[in-house]
Amino acid sequence: MTNPEDRTLTSSGFYVSQEAPIRTDNPVPTPTSPAPDILRCAYMELVVTDLAASREFYVDVLDLVVTEEDENTVYLRSMEEFIHHNLVLRQGPVAAVAAFSYRVRTPEDLDRAVAFYTELGCRVERRAEGFTKGIGESVRVEDPLGFPYEFFYEVEHVERLAWRYDLYTPGALVRLDHFNQVTPDVPRAVAFMQDLGFRVTEDIQDDEGTVYAAWMRRKPTVHDTAMTGGDGPRMHHVAFSTHEKHNILAICDKLGALRRSDAIERGPGRHGVSNAFYLYLRDPDGHRVEIYTQDYYTGDPDNPVVTWDVHDNQRRDWWGNPVVPSWYTDASLVLDLDGNPKPVVARTDASEMAVTIGADGFSYTRRDEESVAAGEFKLGAQL
Ligand SMILES: [Fe+2]
Repeated sequence: MTNPEDRTLTSSGFYVSQEAPIRTDNPVPTPTSPAPDILRCAYMELVVTDLAASREFYVDVLDLVVTEEDENTVYLRSMEEFIHHNLVLRQGPVAAVAAFSYRVRTPEDLDRAVAFYTELGCRVERRAEGFTKGIGESVRVEDPLGFPYEFFYEVEHVERLAWRYDLYTPGALVRLDHFNQVTPDVPRAVAFMQDLGFRVTEDIQDDEGTVYAAWMRRKPTVHDTAMTGGDGPRMHHVAFSTHEKHNILAICDKLGALRRSDAIERGPGRHGVSNAFYLYLRDPDGHRVEIYTQDYYTGDPDNPVVTWDVHDNQRRDWWGNPVVPSWYTDASLVLDLDGNPKPVVARTDASEMAVTIGADGFSYTRRDEESVAAGEFKLGAQL
């Protein structure tokens, strides 16, 4: 890890520091134009290849609320949302992500977004009100990392259903929590996102300073998006919150009852990173959806940055349960502004899967050889 003198080992097994301990030798230039003031991740636009199957998954299984729909598109929101949607499902030829969309603080922030990305030489397009139903004027960009980002301020308000307990189901999704992006060069991506105004809350590194993943926020939670090291640009997952842990267990029970347990990829469990309770699902196109609850407040300016050792086998699951290989390897394509899939660039830094799962596939992660001999690892020792 970088600057070991600046970090403190906590009694929980991770390190804390004041400055994000991530440096890049390959930065995106910092624009002189100020960044737009981003409020929060607001919605994702997903292209799906079988709209009926996707609608069934997100509406009938996960109980998202339909705000509006037509032949080609379904607009969905969570129970506590008051803006038009948190997820757009759009029928298309290739399963992919068309937009990671963020709400900004004022209409003028759209002009700031245009100036910021134009200065970087990015493709930038203004979209008129109604280009996406419910959304006012927006700015769409292909960002320097290859991701399709959108910014908007004006939005149609709809009823916040938080008080409608007659509509709640046992696994009710109450908020959009975050995105997760796959990118080959995590330090480059983090530095760019810091220029865009994001703050790092947690990261995973090794002693050599290789950064495997980082979590960044605008709203005062652990993240609005995360950068996961891997072949990219791709979308790793989109995450919705439940109120409680038991809501996540109810989703597992429902999937079992529907004989749809194959939709469960990983979990349920407790994350080390973020401290949240989690479940990862795969939708009918393979898009990954996380169900997430109970991370922590991060809004103070001196919020400590948490750094995990990649060899700490509690970093991704606090109970030490192994991460399945597909979780590391699979992700969704992202589209350019013309709707064509962006080419995927291979990661050249070390792979978290390779350094933590090992050849036996059973996720031994401690570096101390003696603890391996003592059988101090999870599933492998039980075989
Ligand atoms: Fe996540």
